[in-house]
Amino acid sequence: MAKKEDKNIDTELMHSLHAVLSVNDHGSHTIPAEGIYPHQWLWDSCFISIGLRHTDVERAKQEILSLLKGQWHNGMIPHMIFDSGIFYRSDRELWRSNVSYNAPSEIPTSGITQPPVLAEAIVLIGEKLSKSERKQWYKKTYGPLVRYHNWLYTDRDPNNTGLVFNVHPWETGMDDTPPWVFTIHKIQLPLWVSFIKLVHLDKLIEKVRRDTNKLPTTQRESTIDGLALVSVMQRLRRRQYNTKKIVRSKLLAIEDVAFNSILIRNNKQLERIAQTLGKELPGKLSNSIEKAESALEQLWDDEERLFYPRNFYNQKSIQIPSIGALLPLYSGSISKERASDLVKTLKDNGKFNLKYPVPSVPKNSPDFNKQRFWQGPTWVNTNWFIIKGLEQYGYQKEADDLRKSTIEMVKNAGPSEYFLPTNGKPAGANNFSWTAALTIDLINS
Ligand code: GLC
Repeated sequence: MAKKEDKNIDTELMHSLHAVLSVNDHGSHTIPAEGIYPHQWLWDSCFISIGLRHTDVERAKQEILSLLKGQWHNGMIPHMIFDSGIFYRSDRELWRSNVSYNAPSEIPTSGITQPPVLAEAIVLIGEKLSKSERKQWYKKTYGPLVRYHNWLYTDRDPNNTGLVFNVHPWETGMDDTPPWVFTIHKIQLPLWVSFIKLVHLDKLIEKVRRDTNKLPTTQRESTIDGLALVSVMQRLRRRQYNTKKIVRSKLLAIEDVAFNSILIRNNKQLERIAQTLGKELPGKLSNSIEKAESALEQLWDDEERLFYPRNFYNQKSIQIPSIGALLPLYSGSISKERASDLVKTLKDNGKFNLKYPVPSVPKNSPDFNKQRFWQGPTWVNTNWFIIKGLEQYGYQKEADDLRKSTIEMVKNAGPSEYFLPTNGKPAGANNFSWTAALTIDLINS
């Protein structure tokens, strides 16, 4: 909770944060930011609803319900639901979700998912409702939520290890995070992207990118990485986003630390919802959830004392550090000993403890770049996860300090997409919705 004497400034800050959510409000959903993010994104909307619940719980519910409208017949909730406007035809065309018979016919979406923060958002919204309203709310969302978690384990954990895999870094929400970028360059960089790199055509392509038209290139993913990500997506589209076909073709598949940590915590929230409704989760899903409780241990590296993602096919650890390594704190499923190791890493001045923590890549990594997207800047959503994680392991002082520095950073620099961890300066898009929403939440809870 912010200190009493800060209240005046906070009222002003609060005003400006709510203004961001209003500006980006498109009626039934909120876009992440005007200009470069014109559609609805899965985890963005969850974060947005977590902020909105403090002042307009009905609008918060609406944010979630509009996400559920995009759910696929197999249970997947897509990471993007496209704006139907004429300007965005090329975005819809790029994904062509109707290549899959599982996609809803009326709503154009992407063909992959994003971190499942949905159950958390539903429970946090529920906290703002009376007991009977909460039950109604849970009743409305329970079916889609069960089908979503069920899809995650059935489709993405075929060997029943308790860990799901992802097929695109966009699914982790951390587009150019180093372990994924490294793996793509190593095993899946198509010839045409290598050619563009060789003849330096990327400089030309940069000029027509939507994001680098509006923002400094140095703050965005490199054009080569961006093209590589598009090519990974095209391969998925050619397999109609069908997980079995993707695995048969041995396309990229990684058991990601952050995604699994988020899923594990959200499993618990789903169980809580089921309990409130007096329902039992389907047996198979319950078994997967139980297995998932201890599954992160498979990603632990005893030498480095850190969690690393793992290649699904050969089960080899991808030993490249990123912010993902700290998110097991949020899962709530790791031992106290592991949590204490992570807190040490978090407080290490040579790694994650910069002036405005927590950077998306530790400072001592060769991949650290203080201003490039998910390769160094500090993001409010990962701070929010870490704060929750610290709290549940009893590190209240560390949680309070991080809450304070996060709020201060946003207060000074404005609610931008991300921030330079060295001096707190803003980077990426201005008026970014989840930064505003989660700061509202950090101030209010
Ligand atoms: C970027 C982020 C992703 C987010 C999206 C919309 O792609 O990496 O996490 O969901 O923008 O804000």
